[in-house]
Amino acid sequence: MLTNKETAPLPSAPSRFVDGCGRTIRYLRLSVTDRCDLRCRYCMAERPTFLPKQDILTLEELYRISCLFVSHGIETIRITGGEPLVRKNLMELLRALGGLLDASAHCASLKSLTLTSNGTQLERYAEELFDCGIRRVNVSLDSLDSETFSHLTRGGSLAIVQAGIDAALKAGLQVKINCVALAGTNVCEQEVDRLLSWCGEKGCDLTFIEVMPMGDIGNEKRLDQFYPLTELRRSIAQRWTLEQTAYRSGGPARYTRCAEMGQNIGFISPLTENFCDGCTRVRVTCTGMLYPCLGQESGGDLRELLRAPQRDGMRSDSALSDRIASVITKKTRGHDFVIDGSERAGVSRTMNATGG
Ligand code: GTP
Ligand code: 5AD
Ligand code: SF4
Repeated sequence: MLTNKETAPLPSAPSRFVDGCGRTIRYLRLSVTDRCDLRCRYCMAERPTFLPKQDILTLEELYRISCLFVSHGIETIRITGGEPLVRKNLMELLRALGGLLDASAHCASLKSLTLTSNGTQLERYAEELFDCGIRRVNVSLDSLDSETFSHLTRGGSLAIVQAGIDAALKAGLQVKINCVALAGTNVCEQEVDRLLSWCGEKGCDLTFIEVMPMGDIGNEKRLDQFYPLTELRRSIAQRWTLEQTAYRSGGPARYTRCAEMGQNIGFISPLTENFCDGCTRVRVTCTGMLYPCLGQESGGDLRELLRAPQRDGMRSDSALSDRIASVITKKTRGHDFVIDGSERAGVSRTMNATGG
């Protein structure tokens, strides 16, 4: 249970975290688990080894880190995983984080609390998510063909995810669909057009994502999976009307408005159209590693300080803030992802261990 001590008000007048390139950090991606109830082929191996429980931050530790970031001017927290909704008692954390939303005019406050999910548990949790102050969720949906979906997720049910998305929309959540473009699998005209039409009918924005070389995914080959989004956009533009829009969602997607859908289509293209210059994001893994860049190995451990013995019974938030500030100054200009057939992973950790 998160106690009153843990949900104390935040200090005012924050100093912001600024990286070595002068970029102010405004967006925290916080992973609450590496576990998942699906096994997407581009994300993890068929039989992954999950982390031992004692390595995973407690809800109290996750909350404490979040408060620190918010007190330093973080405006968006996106909860990630693995699949965040499989984390036990996650709603307790979300309810406490919801309390940081627009806390007071005089205190640092959170502007947006969001979640990225695979959708399998949304039917159960959608209303509670809304109740906690969440208004937008991103849901992975790589195919509307149930066999392809089951193949890609190694056994997932499309119907369950679709029911989850319907429940989220019914609860008043805005849903953005994430689709990882995979060569030879879901980028043919038929699949893409079906997804665009479906998102239009549901009133969901859609982002396509280039597969990123993260971690060892067993027998799957990144070069076989990779499909350039520059190509996909060209192909969509031959059949759909794509208009310019100034819309941004905070993440790396570059959006275009699709007239027929009445929705935005985003492209997250780290390999073909680098977007690192405007990056204001950092991520904390479920073990308390702070990674300033998704596509770099370097990071810093926060768990050690979170679990250090307290002096005079007082928690030393200043040591933790100093560690965070110091790791963030080392944020490099951009990622080191390459997909060149050499099968070297861009970074050694998998996406489910990092939270995207
Ligand atoms: P919003 O814009 O807030 O909706 O979030 P988002 O689309 O960035 O978040 P989501 O969790 O849905 O992630 C979509 C994809 O973007 C995932 O594949 C993430 O790994 C990727 N992504 C998010 N941030 C970064 C980043 O800083 N660098 C790279 N290379 N990929 C990122
Ligand atoms: N490359 C690109 N996107 C990935 N995702 C998971 N693994 C990868 C990868 N290697 C996507 C998921 C989810 C989001 C958090 O990241 O499909 O939508
Ligand atoms: Fe699970 Fe997400 Fe990885 Fe798929 S991409 S296996 S849904 S963590």
